Amino acid sequence: MKSFLLAFALLALASSFASAFDPSPLQDFCVAVDDHLHGVFVNGKFCKDPKLAKAEDFFFSVKNPGNTNNPVGSNVTAVNVEQIPGLNTLGISAVRIDYAPYGQNPPHTHPRGTEILVVLEGTLLVGFVTSNPDNKLFTKVLNKGDVFVFPIGLIHFQFNIGKTNAVAVAGLSSQNPGVITIANAVFGSDPAINPDFLAKAFQLDVKVVRDLQAKFWMDGN
Ligand SMILES: *[C@@H]1O[C@H](CO)[C@@H](O)[C@H](O)[C@H]1NC(C)=O
Repeated sequence: MKSFLLAFALLALASSFASAFDPSPLQDFCVAVDDHLHGVFVNGKFCKDPKLAKAEDFFFSVKNPGNTNNPVGSNVTAVNVEQIPGLNTLGISAVRIDYAPYGQNPPHTHPRGTEILVVLEGTLLVGFVTSNPDNKLFTKVLNKGDVFVFPIGLIHFQFNIGKTNAVAVAGLSSQNPGVITIANAVFGSDPAINPDFLAKAFQLDVKVVRDLQAKFWMDGN
């Protein structure tokens, strides 16, 4: 319970990072709605008439763990404007991440958001890499109650190095931070990027590139 309170205090903190990027709302809220006949168009989504907003527009539950029975051994439960329409224009969102023992959240970036992660259970090795030319790795082992920040746009990862399941929650400074999982984007694009080109770019044999391109790349977060 205590870690959940800490987590949500940190989510609130994340909103102060947000103001530099997402435009400030000009009204209390702008619940996203699909039916534009009964809404007003603001910032990418139609807003519901505020008189019709309900508590449910601001609610989502992440009490259930995601199923980690997949090739990377992790599962990200997103809590962004798609799950909580009331996040529209507010510049903030969250995720719950479950990790099986030795599961990982593979290298990825959020093009539109800084992330602040709180470990609720388990032990994670985390890190991010700075942009060129240094490509410096910032890395740390996190235990229950520890907090780490992944700056906007930088490639980052988490790896459960404990023998038990791990759980984290994170706040992100956008209502829709986006995810680019590096391996999926490069080797699992649709249609495929020219393998000869990738072989040279990654200093690999073209056969290795074709093998990588033939794999199934699940969506990461
Ligand atoms: C994540 O967990 C949910 C809920 O159990 C499941 O529906 C979904 O398929 C899982 N995703 C992956 C990538 O394993």
